Amino acid sequence: MKLILVVALALAAPASASLVGQGKNLYGQYCVSCHGANGQGVTTSNVKRAGAGPLRLQAQQEAIAPSLKGVGALAADFYLTTGYMPLQHVGLQPRRTHLVLSPRQIDELVAYVASLGKGPAIPTPHPKRGNLSVGMAAFTDHCAGCHQVVGEGGFVTGAVPPPLEDDSAVQIAEAVRIGPYVMPTFSTKAISNAELDSIIRYVQYAKHPDDRGGWAIGHIGPVPEGLVTWLVAMAVLIVACVVIGERLKHE
Ligand code: HEC
Ligand code: HEC
Repeated sequence: MKLILVVALALAAPASASLVGQGKNLYGQYCVSCHGANGQGVTTSNVKRAGAGPLRLQAQQEAIAPSLKGVGALAADFYLTTGYMPLQHVGLQPRRTHLVLSPRQIDELVAYVASLGKGPAIPTPHPKRGNLSVGMAAFTDHCAGCHQVVGEGGFVTGAVPPPLEDDSAVQIAEAVRIGPYVMPTFSTKAISNAELDSIIRYVQYAKHPDDRGGWAIGHIGPVPEGLVTWLVAMAVLIVACVVIGERLKHE
């Protein structure tokens, strides 16, 4: 019993050096083809700057992949836990997909990417400290233009802003600081951590809006909702007429 416990502990809490080592092996398997040896990034000849990457111009997105030096655990955690990485092939917008890597492999890769250079750690947001109406106002100002008011995704040229309903608080905090793909990067000057807590609280609220006054039908608005009511009411009335008619016939 003791032995099992010791083995379990040894497996659960390896020294971070071996996390990085394991991460490096996985990097060789899944990432090196695009991000290059030691994460220095790969560029095509017509692009002088290191690779494509968040907030780079569309022309630069044609390059293979950005340098990972200094992007830190924050970016690695976001791109891996969303399934954005490993990207299937160059030129695609990274999208949320099912994870090919296990949570442990993700930890290992995050440790390896973080070891490549000094960079931001994984944030710890506190959405409970946020304020819903402040969050709604800030979301409307900074995010709704692309992600729509209820956070269900929208359209911008050249990219699809995804719906935010599957994002955890940490992923939202990470995305705001990174600005993945064509999304802008928001510094702590543009959006303070306190304001970010409020935004996260609002995004999480918008996933389950408190639908008082009935059935939401995908938040499509009052006119179609009214039509659905009429359709249902009409069906009920017809059934009632038929039943009453049948009864009258038999009397
Ligand atoms: C098919 C090529 C490809 C593969 C394979 C790939 N990446 Fe990427 N990676 C990209 C591109 C292109 C971007 C830029 C995406 C963007 O603009 O948001 C990127 C961005 C990133 C970023 C964000 C960098 C930043 O500047 O914030 C991280 C972190 C990352 N990749 C990690 C990985 C890891 C770890 C793997 C292996 C599990 C991997 N990638 C595999 C092409 C690739
Ligand atoms: C210019 C349009 C634009 C604005 C403004 C914008 N986003 Fe985004 N956002 C995007 C796009 C495009 C992506 C997809 C990135 C990718 O595919 O790599 C994205 C991705 C995200 C993601 C990851 C979603 C997922 O699950 O794949 C989150 C979370 C997010 N944005 C939150 C925000 C918040 C919060 C704000 C406001 C502070 C904001 N965004 C402002 C365009 C935008």
